[in-house]
Amino acid sequence: MTGGNRFVTRGGALGTSRCLLLSRRPLPDTGQGAETPRTPRGRLIRVTVKPATLPGGTWTSGDLTVARFGYGAMQLAGPWAMGPPADRDGALAVLREVADLGITHIDTSAAYGPAITNQLIREALQPYPDGLHIATKVGANRDEQGGWPPARQPNELRRQVGENLETLGLDVLDLVNLRLGDAEGTVPGSIAEAFETLADLQREGVIRHLGVSNATAEQVAEAQQIAPIVCVQNMYNLAHRHDDALIDRLARENIAYVPFFPLGGFNPLQSSALSAVATRLNTTPMAVALAWLLQRSPNILLIPGTSSVAHLRENVAGAAIALSAADLAALDGIAE
Ligand SMILES: NC(=O)c1ccc[n+]([C@@H]2O[C@H](COP(=O)([O-])OP(=O)(O)OC[C@H]3O[C@@H](n4cnc5c(N)ncnc54)[C@H](OP(=O)(O)O)[C@@H]3O)[C@@H](O)[C@H]2O)c1
Repeated sequence: MTGGNRFVTRGGALGTSRCLLLSRRPLPDTGQGAETPRTPRGRLIRVTVKPATLPGGTWTSGDLTVARFGYGAMQLAGPWAMGPPADRDGALAVLREVADLGITHIDTSAAYGPAITNQLIREALQPYPDGLHIATKVGANRDEQGGWPPARQPNELRRQVGENLETLGLDVLDLVNLRLGDAEGTVPGSIAEAFETLADLQREGVIRHLGVSNATAEQVAEAQQIAPIVCVQNMYNLAHRHDDALIDRLARENIAYVPFFPLGGFNPLQSSALSAVATRLNTTPMAVALAWLLQRSPNILLIPGTSSVAHLRENVAGAAIALSAADLAALDGIAE
């Protein structure tokens, strides 16, 4: 969906879960000096990923199907999502591992870096694997202090959509969230002018699907009066459960709920109850936090962030754990 297939040279080394097809389609110039990967005979190999092998299976709405276990790319840039990563090759390796694991939902924004995270995604993954969906956000700029000043005038939103298209190397964005509120959280108020601008861009053909982020329940409803949405991306985790009612409503409407900061974000989740459950199950608190989200509701899609291949693998493996009724009751007590 996101503009093509990914070609790699690793052939059968990828294992039986991948379908390898030969093609002569070249990699486009990413502007990053990346070499075109080829087999020894110069042929390119397309990888088709199998999202059903990831914990949580898949979620479908209309023509959109994604693995429920996705990846949040924000923390691939420098500290506080500003500037380049300390380990650029490591960041590219994480993104390639994301695709190799069969993850089909990557969350990003041209505001991360700014531009740097999108450029890394493009360099690591273009031509993009079949079925990969890259979700972006518009609605905020970055200032020199790393702040996120709102930028939701129609011309500002159009510029940010253009920046995402350019830095990701795409003609169409799969999913664009209108990011609302501010760094402190949601801020009530009408979103009509901003969301109508994104609906116009959807009609113009540069956006396939729309969503809202950092939104109140009223703003979600207002967006739905203007155009269909496929997701809401808000802050939510074991300790921060203000959206419980909204999640249940969206589940009834088959709209995805995508929690950001699923592991606590810049302030990692810490709780004696969480640690106790993790110890009892012989796993990590991160694994329990992710498994809890997958079990919380079938419309929850995960986008945990990491800049480490080892943590990524650990999180994918760990999120498959089944939590018992007793575990869930213990974890319910963590909420603020
Ligand atoms: N819509 C919005 O306004 C908004 C706001 C914030 C974020 N987001 C999106 O949500 C995504 C997720 O949020 P996030 O990445 O900020 O926070 P997060 O997923 O809650 O946590 C990421 C942090 O957890 C650490 N971590 C991950 N796995 C670990 C493991 N197995 N062991 C130890 N530490 C681990 C990471 O460090 P390591 O790098 O060391 O693994 C990183 O510091 C973002 O990437 C972004 O795409 C959206």
